[in-house]
Amino acid sequence: MNFENLLVEIAEGIAVVTINRPKALNALNEQTLRELQYAFTQFANNDQAQVIIITGSGGKAFVAGADIAAMQSLSATEARRFAQLGHEVMGSIEGCPKPVIAAVNGFALGGGCELALGCDIRFASENARFGQPEVNLGVIPGFGGTQRLARLVGKGRALELIFTGDMIDAAEAYRIGLANKVVPLADLLETAKQLAAKIISKGPFAVKLAKEAVRNGLEMDLARANQYEADLFGLCFASSDQKEGMQAFLEKRPAKFTGE
Ligand code: CAA
Repeated sequence: MNFENLLVEIAEGIAVVTINRPKALNALNEQTLRELQYAFTQFANNDQAQVIIITGSGGKAFVAGADIAAMQSLSATEARRFAQLGHEVMGSIEGCPKPVIAAVNGFALGGGCELALGCDIRFASENARFGQPEVNLGVIPGFGGTQRLARLVGKGRALELIFTGDMIDAAEAYRIGLANKVVPLADLLETAKQLAAKIISKGPFAVKLAKEAVRNGLEMDLARANQYEADLFGLCFASSDQKEGMQAFLEKRPAKFTGE
């Protein structure tokens, strides 16, 4: 895959997507959003990419937000369309049938924080900074920040961040559940890859259904969500991964999963 603003490397089942606009601190312009959208459409059907990691180029920023220079002169209609494009991208990451890990290697602000929120898991470097500074620009978060941040860290904490535009450091992001783990910058990608490798060693069919169960179930009431879980649990028993996984356990040997 060749892109203007993304670097994509796939090895050992792990696709590393690096947002590559370091001069603009990897800010998301329309081109970058469209490239991300295309990349995730491709990953869905690419067996070489079993887990995806998103990171930013350079040691300073993951993504410093949507591109302010590109947004400055948008009309209301164009801005709405731009936000919808952002939502489509975050939706394609969230809806990707494979786990997506954000390796947050610096500033994750505005659309950058929202990009991290669209991922399944967030690992942060010690120098990472998170925030939704849109109110400083006279706007609100537009790529899902008002929704996903509140769902992840709770309404009170989300609104404090959104009302103040304050940045929080990696330790605070970890404390409120925004970051799953904090490591030195030099170890970040390797730590994310280790997690990816661990997930890849599990039953891929089950991992895919687990993502679906959590993601879709969170939008349902508990009774319906539990029924949905039961349906997907049943579906696991139609897979060869379930047969292999349980047989391997009983034979006291490692399972060889095929993802079918
Ligand atoms: N869009 C476009 N360019 C950006 C950018 C952004 N979001 N963030 C940084 N840049 C550019 C700067 O304009 C600067 O470019 P020049 O060298 O050409 O002047 C370059 O990146 C380096 O940035 P700074 O000189 O500002 O670096 P710094 O170390 O002094 O500050 C920073 C770093 C605190 C992250 C600061 O750049 C900053 O505050 N950036 C904006 C963060 C922001 O407000 N993000 C939210 C955007 S709105 C949004 O995302 C809406 C939405 O939800 C969809």
